[in-house]
Amino acid sequence: MSLTMPAVPAGGDDWALAGDEDLVCDASDSPMAAIEKCLDNGVGACLVVDGPRYLGRVTLGELGHTALDGALLAPTLRQHLDTFGRRLANDPASTEGLQPELDAGGNLIGVAIDRSAQRIQIARPDMSHLEFRALLDAFLSSWISSKGPYVERFETDFSGFVGVRHGIAVSNGTVALHLALMALGIGPGDEVIVPDLTFAATINAVLYCGATPVIADVDAHTWCLSLATVERACTPRTKAIIPVHLYGRPAEMGPIAAFAARHGIAIVEDCAEAHGARYAGRPVGGFGDVACFSFFANKIVTSGEGGMCLTNSADLAGTMRVLRDHGMTPGRSYWHERVGFNYRITNLQAAVGHAQLGRVRQTLRRNADIVEMYRVALGGIPGVRFPPDMDAIYSPVVWLASVLVPAERRVALFEAAARADIELRPFFHSLSTLPPYQPWARPCPVSLALSASGVNLPTSRLVDADAVDRVAEVFRNVLA
Ligand SMILES: Cc1ncc(COP(=O)(O)O)c(C=O)c1O
Repeated sequence: MSLTMPAVPAGGDDWALAGDEDLVCDASDSPMAAIEKCLDNGVGACLVVDGPRYLGRVTLGELGHTALDGALLAPTLRQHLDTFGRRLANDPASTEGLQPELDAGGNLIGVAIDRSAQRIQIARPDMSHLEFRALLDAFLSSWISSKGPYVERFETDFSGFVGVRHGIAVSNGTVALHLALMALGIGPGDEVIVPDLTFAATINAVLYCGATPVIADVDAHTWCLSLATVERACTPRTKAIIPVHLYGRPAEMGPIAAFAARHGIAIVEDCAEAHGARYAGRPVGGFGDVACFSFFANKIVTSGEGGMCLTNSADLAGTMRVLRDHGMTPGRSYWHERVGFNYRITNLQAAVGHAQLGRVRQTLRRNADIVEMYRVALGGIPGVRFPPDMDAIYSPVVWLASVLVPAERRVALFEAAARADIELRPFFHSLSTLPPYQPWARPCPVSLALSASGVNLPTSRLVDADAVDRVAEVFRNVLA
């Protein structure tokens, strides 16, 4: 048993471990107070006491479920437990691993977290009371579609975080890429360079425009496009380059941006996995014509589904706003100046994303700490390699922790992890090996090798020292 779960909101960039006070509610507390505590303690559950006496356990799942029957109307947890039943000590249905330690008289004398039987997911959104309150505010305001103050707040504050002038929030990261390319006028006959190692949305967006993707290998050091790989893929028809900052690792944006400027080629940065990463001291997302972010549930900042285009160009921002909203001219009802799309985000999603943004430095710090734990635990295991250290000009962030293992042992590793209820993920497939992209397939040996040996490790608030030990044991059993 250990008590190592991080509790949210320490101030500043720091995050803290949950203490007993984060895990225990008083019977006189309201169900809403319990929800906030369960969100912030990262466990998703709380024990309820009446003075010293243990009354039962509440969980987020149960509070949410019983809310459908009006549970949140109960003024106190005492009434809530009386009405909806008590989940008592050593309840086998407890999936949170939160256990009370009781004396003979039924008094709470300690709290323990035993997550040894819990599934370790690859990722899990970390929602605090801040996201919850913002979501309620947006919901209760009745602005549940794309009009509403949180959309603009999210655009302003996220673009400020990246240091870019304009933010255009959209429904997801994929349509952000499509919107950016459309606004840049990319179409049939144009070539767009994409890395071979990326999530398929990068190349799909090019195909949505009717343009020709040109697949380029990635660099062994950065795992991203490099000047050398871009130069090799460039032709007189190249109209845009999409560098993807893969797994939080920045591409070499200085040389790539200088090359693109010399040749009049546009850059769309795909920053879906790299919120907060920097190159040459500047955040990624500020080096191209447009940068695209994703706020999918597993991302560093999430709004559930969501995305954003950032640009310093007022013209491009205006075009993207029109295209995002059915091609309609702002301020002129139902006047469609172009064929557009409905790529809008909702105020509900923006409220969550905006609150998440306020916690992004804590999230990045926590992910970096998790990688340090993995380095210690997996470091000595034969065959395990960590991502190459990057030169000082690069400041990567951790989206999902990753390691490389011998390709021929990877299936056995995944099978052993699944048996231990641990979710590992392989790296993306090389695009050149996937069926829909065969017309554009290119030999990409670096990407192919990374794709065959890369493993993403669980990276979320659920990953504490015990979880890291469990992961390490699987690696040791299979590889040592
Ligand atoms: C590199 C990359 N590009 C684009 C996307 C697409 O983002 P979304 O899932 O929000 O559409 C993702 C996300 O999954 C991604 O990892």
